[in-house]
Amino acid sequence: MLPVDGRSLSLAKKILSEGRLVAFPTETVYGLGADAFNDSAVSLIYRTKGRPSDNPLIVHLHKDYDISRLVDGIPDYARALSAAFLPGPLTMVYKSRGAVCPAVSCGLDTLAVRIPSHPCAQAFLKYVDIPVAAPSANISKHVSPVTAGHVYDDFKGKIELILDGGKCSGGIESTVLDCTGKVPCVLRSGLVTRDMIAQVAGECDEYIMKDGERVRSPGMKYKHYSPRCKTALFAYADRMQALRLYRECDCRGERAYIMCDRQTAADMGDARILDLGGDEREVAANLYDRLREGERVADMIIAVAPLKQDGVMVGVMNRLTKACG
Ligand code: TXA
Ligand code: MG
Repeated sequence: MLPVDGRSLSLAKKILSEGRLVAFPTETVYGLGADAFNDSAVSLIYRTKGRPSDNPLIVHLHKDYDISRLVDGIPDYARALSAAFLPGPLTMVYKSRGAVCPAVSCGLDTLAVRIPSHPCAQAFLKYVDIPVAAPSANISKHVSPVTAGHVYDDFKGKIELILDGGKCSGGIESTVLDCTGKVPCVLRSGLVTRDMIAQVAGECDEYIMKDGERVRSPGMKYKHYSPRCKTALFAYADRMQALRLYRECDCRGERAYIMCDRQTAADMGDARILDLGGDEREVAANLYDRLREGERVADMIIAVAPLKQDGVMVGVMNRLTKACG
């Protein structure tokens, strides 16, 4: 675990060039990076995470990298979205030119590209000056990491270098947007919301998985973000039932915590609380940190969904449902 400076960046470059992995901070969550041109390095990501081999990776670029080296057919709306939101927590899926190794996209003819805004991510990507394939730096299915310590906790000694850039400010993974069609389509919700995209692009669809249909973003079909303790999830309207379950746990001698936003916490009396914060951005920023704290201190996390369900909360609810539902 090293701070980002000349010495750690030069070590990072050496490690990547030798086909091994470097964890690095972004404004959303920490990533586990490999040289996207190196087949065996990319397969090492899947092995190290225990990631299913049909769940493709995002390629990370510094802001001056010429993306036309990697992808084709960038529509006008995507150029407008790039100007509005990049660098930032928006991943864009384009037609691939096949320049990076096929395992990055699991053989799909598309490539997901992301230009993160975190200054440490930009410094790292600029220094190595190659496309870095990186999923979130957690063991597959576990809660995504928002600190260097979280990455260490998942992998212990298995990753040679973790670049430490402090706590990620965004807290949930980037919005994944399919830019291969006439209208952009959100495949995974995040901090850049569907409304924000529609305001720039004119319209924006949202992908809803239907039974039997081929999955457009393979990551969506897997269980995810799960803390290593029992969980339950209640709608805001059912928050008193959550409190009842909490009391039942107490009676059984199980240590439960209620995870909720500050407005809901006000109704929970003296219950032990994992506080998600006051507004939607705070809730997103705190979600994974509180899930990881919860699995350390609690036998059971009883989550209560926030009253507000739009905007950034769409992405929060998607994670909360997969983690605790
Ligand atoms: O914020 C983030 O996006 C973080 C940081 C590290 O950048 N990365 C991240 O990666 O969340 P990961 O691997 O945990 O999630 C990548 C998502 C998956 O849902 C995957 O299915 C989707 O992106 N994806 C990747 N390539 C795709 C493609 N060619 N077409 C459709 N979906 C794709
Ligand atoms: Mg992930």
